[in-house]
Amino acid sequence: MILLKNFTIRLLFISVLSSLCFVSISQDVAEGEQIFKNVCKACHNLPGGGMSTGPDLKDVLNSEKFVNQEDRTETFIKYVQNPLTLGVAAMPAQDLDDTQVLSVLEFINTYVPEEKEVSSNEEIVVVDEMSSVNILIIISIVFIILIIALISIKNTLKKIQNQKTETISESIINFCKVYWANSKAVLISAFILFIFVLKIVFDTMMGIGVVEGYQPDQPIQFSHKIHAGVNGIDCNYCHSSARNSKTASVPSADLCMNCHTQIKTGTITGETEINKIYDAVGFNPETGKYIEDYQQKPIEWVRVHSLPDLTYFNHSQHVNVAGLECQQCHGNVEEKTVGQVAFKDELNKVQKNQDEGIKFKHPTLTMGWCIDCHRTKEIDMESNEYYADMHEKLKSDPKYQDKKITPALIGGMECGKCHY
Ligand code: HEC
Ligand code: HEC
Ligand code: HEC
Ligand code: HEC
Ligand code: HEC
Ligand code: HEC
Repeated sequence: MILLKNFTIRLLFISVLSSLCFVSISQDVAEGEQIFKNVCKACHNLPGGGMSTGPDLKDVLNSEKFVNQEDRTETFIKYVQNPLTLGVAAMPAQDLDDTQVLSVLEFINTYVPEEKEVSSNEEIVVVDEMSSVNILIIISIVFIILIIALISIKNTLKKIQNQKTETISESIINFCKVYWANSKAVLISAFILFIFVLKIVFDTMMGIGVVEGYQPDQPIQFSHKIHAGVNGIDCNYCHSSARNSKTASVPSADLCMNCHTQIKTGTITGETEINKIYDAVGFNPETGKYIEDYQQKPIEWVRVHSLPDLTYFNHSQHVNVAGLECQQCHGNVEEKTVGQVAFKDELNKVQKNQDEGIKFKHPTLTMGWCIDCHRTKEIDMESNEYYADMHEKLKSDPKYQDKKITPALIGGMECGKCHY
C-alpha cells in the first residue's frame, strides 16, 4: 500500500515537473519567435526559407561556422551579440541578452516550415519507387492464391461427379507433365524468361560504377559555400571553360590570387588555408610581394567527377547548346564545401529539374543517369539558333509533329554518341 502511494506521488511529481518544463520551453519559443520576426527577419528568411541577406539559419549549429566549435551554443550567443569578435563585419551586433538569444535559438531549432502543397509530382515518386521486386512478390502471392483456389474448385467439381480428388502437389505435377508435352507453351515461356534476364542484365549495366556522394578531401579546405554562396562568385569565374569547351577545369592558383593578394585571412580557417595558396605561387603576405625565382608548385586538387575513358561527355554542349544550369547535374554546389558527386535525390529536388520534368532514376554519373535526362528533357528549339535548321526539318516531318522533342529523339541514345 505504502509502495503504491509512493509510486503515485512520484508519478504526480514527475508529470507536474515535466509539464512545467514544457510550459517554460514553449514560452521561450514564443519569445524567440517574436524576436526573430522583429529583428532577424530583416536579413534572414524563416529557417528553411533559404538565403536572404544573411544565410539560412535552419540547423545553424551544424553550419560551417559552428560545427567545429567546442561549445556551439556559447559561440552562437557570442556571434549574435558581437559578430566582430568572430571576425564577421557583415552582420551588425544585436542588443540581446543571453536568454533572449537562447530563445531565438530555441525557436530556430523547433521551427517547422509550413508544408507546401504536395504536388502531383511527389505522388508519382511514391509509385515509381515501389521497386519491381515488391511488385513481383505481390504478383507471385496473387498467383499462388489463384492456383490453390482453382485446385479446390476443381476438387469440388470432381467430388460432385464422384471422381477421385487430387492433392495440390498432385495437381501441379500433372499440370507440368501436360505442359512439357506442349512445345509451343514451352517456347513462349522460355522467351519471356529470356527477356526478363536481359532486363536484369541491362539494369545492372546501367548502374555500373556508382560514385554518388563521392567527396574526397582536398589539399586546401576550399569552400564553395563561402565563395559561390555567401560571396556570390559566379561558377564561370572559376570554371570558365565549362561554357565553351569539352571540360570544365579547376582554376589555377594564379586565379585565386586575383582576390587573395588582398584577402589574407578567412573567417573559419584563419591564415592556414590561404597560406597554402601563397606557398604554391610564392607570395609573401607580409611584404605583399611575389618571391623572386620561386619554384611554383601546382595545387594538386583531387578529381571528383571522372567518367571512364570509353565515354565522351562535352560540357559546352550541355551548358551552352542545351542551356542547362550547373546545378541540374551537380546539385547545390553553392551550399557545399569541396566538390561532390551529387546524389540523384538531391538533383531531383533542384527546382529547374522539376520545372523541366527531368527525373533521375539512376545514380549520378552512371549511363542510366545520362539516359534518364536524355529521355525526359525537352529541347527548347524555338529560341535556340543552334537548332534553327533542325527545327525547320522536324517541323515539316509529320512524325514529330506535336511531340516533345527530347535528346533521345535526335540521336542522344545512339551508343556512338557517348562511346568512342
Ligand atoms: C542587418 C542584417 C542582419 C540582421 C538584422 C541579422 N543578421 Fe545574422 N547575418 C547577417 C549576415 C550578412 C550574415 C553573414 C555574415 C558572414 O558570414 O559574412 C549573418 C550571419 C548570421 C549567422 C551565422 C550563420 C552561419 O551559418 O554562418 C547567425 C547565427 C546569425 N546571423 C544570427 C542572427 C540572429 C539570431 C539575428 C537576430 C537576432 C540576426 N542574425 C540578425 C545579417 C543580419
Ligand atoms: C573573386 C574573389 C575570390 C577568388 C577568385 C578566390 N577567393 Fe577565396 N575567398 C574570397 C573571399 C571573399 C573569402 C572570404 C574571406 C572571409 O572569410 O571573410 C575567401 C576565403 C577563402 C578561404 C578561407 C575560408 C575561411 O573562411 O577560412 C580560403 C581557404 C580560400 N578563400 C581559398 C581560395 C582558393 C583556393 C581559391 C582559388 C581556387 C580562391 N579562394 C579564390 C574571395 C575569393
Ligand atoms: C549535363 C550535366 C552537366 C552540366 C549541366 C554541368 N556538368 Fe560539370 N560535369 C558533368 C559530368 C558528367 C562531369 C564528368 C566529366 C568527365 O569525367 O569527363 C562533369 C565534370 C565537371 C568538373 C570537373 C572537371 C571536368 O571537366 O571533368 C567541373 C569543375 C564541372 N563539371 C563544373 C561544372 C560547371 C561550373 C557547370 C556549369 C557551368 C557544369 N559543370 C555543368 C556534368 C555536367
Ligand atoms: C572561387 C573559385 C570557385 C568558384 C566560384 C566555384 N568553384 Fe567549383 N571548384 C573550385 C575549386 C578550387 C575546385 C577543386 C576543389 C574541389 O573539388 O572542391 C572546384 C571543384 C568543383 C567541382 C568538382 C570538380 C571535380 O573534380 O570533379 C564541381 C562540380 C564544381 N566545382 C562546380 C562548381 C559550381 C557549379 C559552381 C557555382 C555554383 C562553382 N563550382 C563555383 C573553385 C570554384
Ligand atoms: C540534365 C540533362 C542531361 C544529362 C544529365 C545529360 N545530358 Fe547529354 N544532352 C542533354 C541535352 C538537353 C542534349 C541536347 C543538346 C544537343 O542536342 O546538342 C544532350 C546532348 C548530348 C549529346 C549529343 C547528342 C547529339 O545528338 O549530338 C551527347 C553525346 C551527350 N548529351 C552525352 C551525355 C553523357 C555522356 C551524359 C552522362 C555522363 C549526359 N549526356 C548527361 C541533356 C543531358
Ligand atoms: C547518353 C550517353 C550514353 C549512351 C547513348 C550510351 N552510353 Fe554506355 N555508358 C555511358 C556512360 C556515361 C557510361 C559510364 C558509366 C559508369 O562509369 O558507371 C557508360 C558505360 C557503358 C558500359 C559499361 C562499361 C564499363 O565502364 O564497365 C557499357 C557496356 C555500355 N556503356 C554500352 C553501351 C551501349 C551498348 C550503348 C548503346 C545501346 C550505350 N552504352 C549508349 C553513356 C552512354
